[in-house]
Amino acid sequence: MRVLVAGGAGYIGSHTVVKLIEAGHDVVIADDFSNSKPAVRERLETITGRKITMHAVDLCDRDATDHLFTDEKIDAVIHFAGFKAVGESVAKPIDYYENNLGTMFSLLRAMERHGVNIIVFSSSATVYGDAGTSVMHEELATTAVNPYGWTKVMGEQILRDVANARPQMRVALLRYFNPVGAHPSGLIGEDPSDVPNNLMPFIAQVAIGRREKLNIFGGDYDTKDGTGVRDFIHVEDLATGHVAALEALGRADEPVKTWNLGTGNGVSVLELLHAFERAADKKLPYEIVARRPGDLAAYWADPSLANEELRWHATKTVDDMCVDTWRWQKNNPDGYPD
Ligand code: UFG
Repeated sequence: MRVLVAGGAGYIGSHTVVKLIEAGHDVVIADDFSNSKPAVRERLETITGRKITMHAVDLCDRDATDHLFTDEKIDAVIHFAGFKAVGESVAKPIDYYENNLGTMFSLLRAMERHGVNIIVFSSSATVYGDAGTSVMHEELATTAVNPYGWTKVMGEQILRDVANARPQMRVALLRYFNPVGAHPSGLIGEDPSDVPNNLMPFIAQVAIGRREKLNIFGGDYDTKDGTGVRDFIHVEDLATGHVAALEALGRADEPVKTWNLGTGNGVSVLELLHAFERAADKKLPYEIVARRPGDLAAYWADPSLANEELRWHATKTVDDMCVDTWRWQKNNPDGYPD
């Protein structure tokens, strides 16, 4: 398939581009570089040994998106093009709704006009909200506690409604848990443009000396060591999950499929920190501070549906995640060049 990877210059998108090409697909990247850098293209070309087609385009722009579908023959879309910082979404809700829903509308309009029926959507475990359980399975009700989360809940609903109206559509809603890690080459990885909100890039920046210490948000949760517990999944495993989902849609009888992409294992903040200390071979300073508002104590995926229906399993360990993140961080202390 020739796959439009919307937001393909970003963290998860770029790793998925590699896996798509390795699986024999053709890729067209579209990105506005609002949270990524054009320099990723050269890195992708080095890893894959292939020329990468990349368009600088604002996917909220309906006409520009439509032109892209006229210029490039597209068979399927993987939609990563969205803002993703929870705290920022609370401060700038209009930006989040406008951007995350705007990209969805332009892509769906262009798909309709150009007869493209297959779409894989970057959703999130955030749609489970506080479900009152630690193990999240796809049948749980969805909700949200911040504008970012609502854009994912709404994105899923829009896709369900569109598929309902156009039965030839094939939609995958992929609910990611906590993606971390980097390509083993150390050439591509996560490159936060500001102070990292997420745990792993923050730890990596402490290890490289860009931050003084890690603040651990809460040490008194009812968990194995008092710190929060999450399902960290290597971005390479997440990327192969997208390829598996895309291929499964081609043979699916139902128009909409929802799959959790996680390992099924809960790992604590302290466990991840200690794994990173082993990878970097140094002690990393930390302090336990107050809980972060809105955080849940502990949750992880029930990945059994994806394991069965996609014949996909996460294979990488927490040590792999830390070793690969550290290699990326060491080789690129300031992220991608401008
Ligand atoms: N944490 C710290 N210190 C930090 C950053 C995080 O202690 O500096 C802790 C958090 O309190 C939490 C854990 O590390 O216990 C993971 O936090 P992240 O911010 O890395 O990830 P979240 O689980 O909060 O959120 C992530 C994504 C969201 C997504 C959610 C879905 O960032 O976009 O997973 O499960 F919605």
